[in-house]
Amino acid sequence: MKRLAVLLSGRGSNFLAIHDACVSKALPAEIVCVISNKVDARGVEKARELGIPAFAFDHKQYPNRAAHEAEVIATLELHRPDFVILAGYMRLLSSAFVARFRHRITNIHPSLLPSFPGVDAQKQAVEYGVKIAGCTVHLVDESLDGGPILVQRTVPVLDGDTPDELAARILGEEHGAYVEAIRKLCGGFRVEGRRVVFLLEP
Ligand code: GAR
Repeated sequence: MKRLAVLLSGRGSNFLAIHDACVSKALPAEIVCVISNKVDARGVEKARELGIPAFAFDHKQYPNRAAHEAEVIATLELHRPDFVILAGYMRLLSSAFVARFRHRITNIHPSLLPSFPGVDAQKQAVEYGVKIAGCTVHLVDESLDGGPILVQRTVPVLDGDTPDELAARILGEEHGAYVEAIRKLCGGFRVEGRRVVFLLEP
C-alpha cells in the first residue's frame, strides 16, 4: 500500500476521486493526510468528514514562503507519504520543497501542457482558439507546470464555449486521469530525462 498526502486549496473533487479509488481498491494506496493553505477549503471539510487527518495552514499567517513550507513539510514528514499529490493546490513550491520529495510530487493542470501553464488555463485555451484541450498529470520539478508528463487526456473545445464550460468538460477527464497516473506510479517507474517509464503497463 502506498501512502498518499494530498495538498489542495479548494473544492477537492480530485482529492475525492482519488479517495474513492483508494476505498474501492482501484488504487493500491491510502490517503494519509490532506493539507491546505486555505482554512475554508471545501476539500479540508470533506477530508474531516471522511476521518482523514486534515490540516489547514493559512500561508498569510506566516512571515514568508519558507516558514509556511516548513510547517507543511514537517506535517508531511510526520505522515511519511510515498507521494505528495497536488490537487488544486494554488501555491508554488520552492526548489527546496521539490528537492525534499524529488520525483514524488505530482500535479494536475487543466491544459495539455506545455500549452497554457499558469493560472486560468481554460480561459487561455478559449482565448487562443484551440480546438482540443484537456488535462495533464505530471511530476513536479522546479519549473512552473513543466515537469515530466505522466498522463494526458483530451476534450474538444466547442464553438461558443465559455471558460467555465470548458473547465467543467476538462474536469470530467481530470479525475480518471489522476487515478490512472497514481496507479501507474504505484506500479513503479523511472524517470529518463523528460520521459517517465512505467514498470508495469498499463
Ligand atoms: C482542477 O481543475 C485542477 O486541474 C486545477 O484546479 C482545479 C482543482 O479542482 N489546478 C490548477 O489549475 C493548477 N495549476 P478540485 O479542487 O475540484 O480538484
